[in-house]
Amino acid sequence: MDEKLRDLLNQQIGKEFYSAYLYLSMSNYYYHASLDGFGKWYKIQAQEEMDHGNKIIKYLLDREQIVKMDAIDAPKWDFQNYREPIEMALKHEEYVTGLINDLYGLAKDVRDWRSCQFLDWYLAEQTEEEKNAHDMINRYDLSGADPRGIFLLDEYLNRREYQPIDKV
Ligand code: FEO
Repeated sequence: MDEKLRDLLNQQIGKEFYSAYLYLSMSNYYYHASLDGFGKWYKIQAQEEMDHGNKIIKYLLDREQIVKMDAIDAPKWDFQNYREPIEMALKHEEYVTGLINDLYGLAKDVRDWRSCQFLDWYLAEQTEEEKNAHDMINRYDLSGADPRGIFLLDEYLNRREYQPIDKV
């Protein structure tokens, strides 16, 4: 495998685990505010991000590449209001989409078609991730920050169940 591509895939593992850490921090914030549905939603989001990271680890190992784990930065935890994590989640997913685009571009440049095929899954996933983050903002805004609306949204979010992604 091209060395630069291998390094970038290794870095992406850290980015996915940072995403998990960030969502876990958001989950903690909402649980602390007794918004258990929001807390559960972001906790599941964190689990999915770990799946994303583990999927890259498996791919690198399948390609007989070295796996290097980077340090993970501390995520924000002192959110100022219920909307702040929701806004941050969308910005973060847009950032991750940019990272996946860069990875895809490099894989194409070095004619690593297997990596392109592998990354196709991440491109599709980012569309879903951004949509979910957008929906969350829209739903929150529909509640008009009214406590009864937030309570109903919290109940709705509490219905989310963790679905592991394919064998990682
Ligand atoms: Fe791993 Fe939320 O994208």
